[in-house]
Amino acid sequence: MFTRRHAIRLGLTTGAVGAVGAAGGVFRTLTTGQRAGQPATAPVAASAAETASAAGTASAAGAVEPFSVPLTVPPVLAPYLRTRRADYYRITTRRAAAEILPGTRTDVLTYNGSFTGPTIHARTGRTTVIQQVNELDMPTSVHLHGGNNPVEHDGGMMDTIAPGRRRTYVYENKQPAATLWTHDHAHHMESEHVYRGLSGLYLLREAVEDRLGLPSGKYDIPLVLRDADFDENAAMVYTMDDAENRTTILVNGRPWPYLRVEGRKYRFRLVNSCNLRIFVLALSDGTATQHPVQQIGSDGGLLTAPAETPVLVLSPGERIDFVVDFSKYAPGTRLSLANMLGPGPTELVGQVMRFEVGRPTADRSRVPDTLAALPAPSSLPKPAVERSFDLTMDEPGTGGHQAYINGRTFDPDRVDTHVEWGTSEVWTVTNKSATIPHNFHTHLVQFRILERDGQPPYPAEAGLKDTVLLFPGQTAKLHLTFDSHRGVYPYHCHMIDHSAMGMMAQMKIS
Ligand code: C2O
Ligand code: CU
Ligand code: CU
Repeated sequence: MFTRRHAIRLGLTTGAVGAVGAAGGVFRTLTTGQRAGQPATAPVAASAAETASAAGTASAAGAVEPFSVPLTVPPVLAPYLRTRRADYYRITTRRAAAEILPGTRTDVLTYNGSFTGPTIHARTGRTTVIQQVNELDMPTSVHLHGGNNPVEHDGGMMDTIAPGRRRTYVYENKQPAATLWTHDHAHHMESEHVYRGLSGLYLLREAVEDRLGLPSGKYDIPLVLRDADFDENAAMVYTMDDAENRTTILVNGRPWPYLRVEGRKYRFRLVNSCNLRIFVLALSDGTATQHPVQQIGSDGGLLTAPAETPVLVLSPGERIDFVVDFSKYAPGTRLSLANMLGPGPTELVGQVMRFEVGRPTADRSRVPDTLAALPAPSSLPKPAVERSFDLTMDEPGTGGHQAYINGRTFDPDRVDTHVEWGTSEVWTVTNKSATIPHNFHTHLVQFRILERDGQPPYPAEAGLKDTVLLFPGQTAKLHLTFDSHRGVYPYHCHMIDHSAMGMMAQMKIS
């Protein structure tokens, strides 16, 4: 259960905690006019003035009536070849024009012309082979976020595909079922490339998960969240480290959509594909009633047991799988997925999408009490080494625009951390920024959170994780085991404007 104490440890302000309690029309977004994804130290109710100024900034998104656009689900890519052991795909990275805001066209960067990119369905133990063709006039690199892959298939920052060239990535899928994410990782370009659309889903399934009987097929729906800043011509505006103006919320590439659901259980897979925005989400019927959901999975796969929670907290790169049982609601009920964290006016960033509940339908799906077998933190392998990582960034007003891990900005020619293959380590990661949230993402490994600010992690983040959110001043103690691939892999803040500003480093496993 997500408690008030958990919320406080997560750095939610009292206002947000109150909003969690209220979980409805009275919630307050934290504030506007702040720097880069910064939560306010004090909640500010959206005022009429704020609303007016939001409407005053000419944006084609201003014409969008929230919950007027149906949710679409990204297309599932069909393999061009299936063998006994592998599925073969071809994806072209190219420019396209997409209808994001109704009746307008926006120039975007895409995988196969699709915004959000197409979804790949993969199975644990079966190999996925993807030939990526780069038809852009810029280098690209395709990273499978959350994937456990050899370094030559990891899509590193420097390991790019030149314009006009192609490259084949092979994923052996030797890891549990999970919601994974592919995105661009070309050094110094990843932030803008991902923002402009180089982002797609990779859903890894396996037989043990199938047998659980969770909602599946058309009742298993991905929700890829992001924000964007549109100008009056519906062009996407990219300004580095500009969280405040990215106030149009998109789900699967559509603004504030609605989804008609049957009165039964659904599984939703949330991916935060934003560059900077952190979401604190709750189901809301517009009153103060709480509508807890069951979180069943996090970044690296299923939790050991479902965790009932009134809020879902998701920073860039993080994933949350959760189940909602709409049979509890009368047909005609409207439930919105509300967001309680800024920056941005509540009218815009305070809502994500809406569910419109229909008639009850037959439902044989279930959410078992035991989902996955994971070792208890106390029985994880003893660490060979303990290390500390401090995240800092030039503070607002200093004129600096760099970001650091342990005082250093990223240097692709430097190995920052030497890890002995086959060992486990404990990493203590601290956000030393005074006002700016960060998170911490490792390539290659799924880690376990042993402690958050000296206390056990809350149940929703006690499973396999590859990205951990750290509000200013927060510390997380992570347990990592390096027993798969060798090589040089990055770790970085996944607020990718920050990693592009230098908050990234490299570990060599040998
Ligand atoms: Cu989403 Cu370096 O990763
Ligand atoms: Cu990654
Ligand atoms: Cu950061």
